Amino acid sequence: MPRIMGLQSSLDIILAGKSLDAKRAKKKGLVDVLANPNTLEDEALLFAQKMVEGKKPKRKKKYAPKGFMDSFLESPLGRPLVFKKAREAVMKNSKGFYPAPLKALDVIKKTYNYSNRERALLVEAQGFCEVAVTEISKHLINLFYLLEDVKKQSGVPGVNVDPYPVNSIGVLGAGVMGGGIAYVAADKGVFVRMKDITNDAIAKGFDHAKSLWKKKLKRRRLTKYEFENRMARVSGTLDYSGFKGLDVVIEAIVEDMKIKQSVIGETAKHCKDNCVIATNTSSLSVTEMAKGHPNPKNFVGMHFFNPVDKMPLVEIIRGEHTSDEAVATIYSLTKRMGKTPVVVKDGPGFLVNRLLLPLLAEAMFILEEGAVIEEVDRYYTHNFGMPMGPFRLMDEVGLDVCIKVLKIFQESLGERIEVSELSKKLAANSERLGRKNGKGFYLYDERGRDTQVDETVYAELGLPKPKGGISSKEAIERGILQMINEAARALKEDKICETAGECDLAMIMGTGFPPFRGGLLRYADSLGAEYVVQQLEEYAQRLGIRFKPSESLVAMANNKTTFY
Ligand SMILES: NC(=O)c1ccc[n+]([C@@H]2O[C@H](COP(=O)([O-])OP(=O)(O)OC[C@H]3O[C@@H](n4cnc5c(N)ncnc54)[C@H](O)[C@@H]3O)[C@@H](O)[C@H]2O)c1
Repeated sequence: MPRIMGLQSSLDIILAGKSLDAKRAKKKGLVDVLANPNTLEDEALLFAQKMVEGKKPKRKKKYAPKGFMDSFLESPLGRPLVFKKAREAVMKNSKGFYPAPLKALDVIKKTYNYSNRERALLVEAQGFCEVAVTEISKHLINLFYLLEDVKKQSGVPGVNVDPYPVNSIGVLGAGVMGGGIAYVAADKGVFVRMKDITNDAIAKGFDHAKSLWKKKLKRRRLTKYEFENRMARVSGTLDYSGFKGLDVVIEAIVEDMKIKQSVIGETAKHCKDNCVIATNTSSLSVTEMAKGHPNPKNFVGMHFFNPVDKMPLVEIIRGEHTSDEAVATIYSLTKRMGKTPVVVKDGPGFLVNRLLLPLLAEAMFILEEGAVIEEVDRYYTHNFGMPMGPFRLMDEVGLDVCIKVLKIFQESLGERIEVSELSKKLAANSERLGRKNGKGFYLYDERGRDTQVDETVYAELGLPKPKGGISSKEAIERGILQMINEAARALKEDKICETAGECDLAMIMGTGFPPFRGGLLRYADSLGAEYVVQQLEEYAQRLGIRFKPSESLVAMANNKTTFY
């Protein structure tokens, strides 16, 4: 590829997985012929025939640089600069956790301009063999198969069930989540009817979708025609007009059980009998909410993550009375929307938030002990590989939301959910909500980009100037081992999901848990249950009951078993 396309554009593809559309691939010399899908077979045969007859197509043999700068960067003098920049970009994106792109870079550096192709291919083969057999490679291949599995599944294992066809959906609430859901569905060809209580709110929902499509239009990912088409798929209403024809309605209004139940009951009256109503609640019981629906078998949870257009996971929550058809319909719709579905049982925080919350709660205890905010976040990103540390994550989710959910957990899961005094102090300040109002543990500029830690947060929480000092190992273990402990309970005791693979898929897709570690439970297996239990016991003695190892984890340690 570098020989044909030149070093710079090929490195973008090889190292960062950038893709080219067909036209650009042809222009760059990577593709011989472009064919219309309708005539693909004929053209392929014609092409093969010409090859057989010895009429080989003209093919670019070597990249010809254009302009002075390009020529310089492709020359032996400029090349080291390209390699240096490429390495820096890989390290920035992967933090050095993925050996394959670095190995690919080494191979290209070594073999670029080798006149002996056989020798170059041998170097490449050796490099490939080195990185193909690592644990990291195995984890990534496993993840690939988990995703492939989702493609084949219906969401209801062991039962032959067909989803209802879905052409149009309703979205109740055109806010942050509703606007995102409308965008993602319409983007994939589904007609969307958005309902809210004011015209202003609907306009905001439209604007949200429009601005995302505008970006694609600007980047030429959409034509003007495709842009208009997508916009035309979304309509808005203040009443239930048009709801009779909808196949699915997704509810994304305020997080209040009573209001949700009443709105769901009202909506069901305006929809056809087999319309599936799904709630996007993040913390309320789906089974309880289903009491608002006259026919709870057509009611299910469909939990998107924020921002909807970027986050790949959707948790599908099966309530006590949800029918197989309703699950299969939402599972299939989720896939059509380009997202990864994981079916979970109803329970506090469902799966992802239940496992994530102990980490966030622990960060508050660590802060109380004098930790430096950005230092802890850095441990998680740079030493463990999470996309963001716990404080930044709390800012993203919203500090008010985190504390509200923490309280729900405490009420439903009991004394093992310990809440730091700091969380209560944080809850008292309604001015500090996180990224959404520009002020959380970090400060944000007008464009919503974080600038630096808000140093005033320490004093506000009654903390002295932080002294730091907690080791990276302890900061990471205290969060991650609690997550493993909770995962053991969720999987083995409460059966929130069926398999360790589903749990790992949900954590990778929903929280960005480092894919190279294979997921939370594969990581737990790599540590071994004995080690995890022993560490948890030590922390429990020193820090509190929240670390007490679960019965299932203790059993695993005693029996020397693993999650997989
Ligand atoms: N924001 C998140 O990060 C997030 C993530 C996952 C799930 N959720 C859940 O999604 C839901 C919506 O959250 P959000 O952040 O989009 O809230 P939001 O405040 O941005 O939007 C809610 C919208 O619902 C509208 N609304 C209120 N009552 C209504 C009614 N009776 N009929 C129609 N519309 C009504 C409001 O006018 C508002 O536009 C909540 O249940 C929340 O828990 C939120």
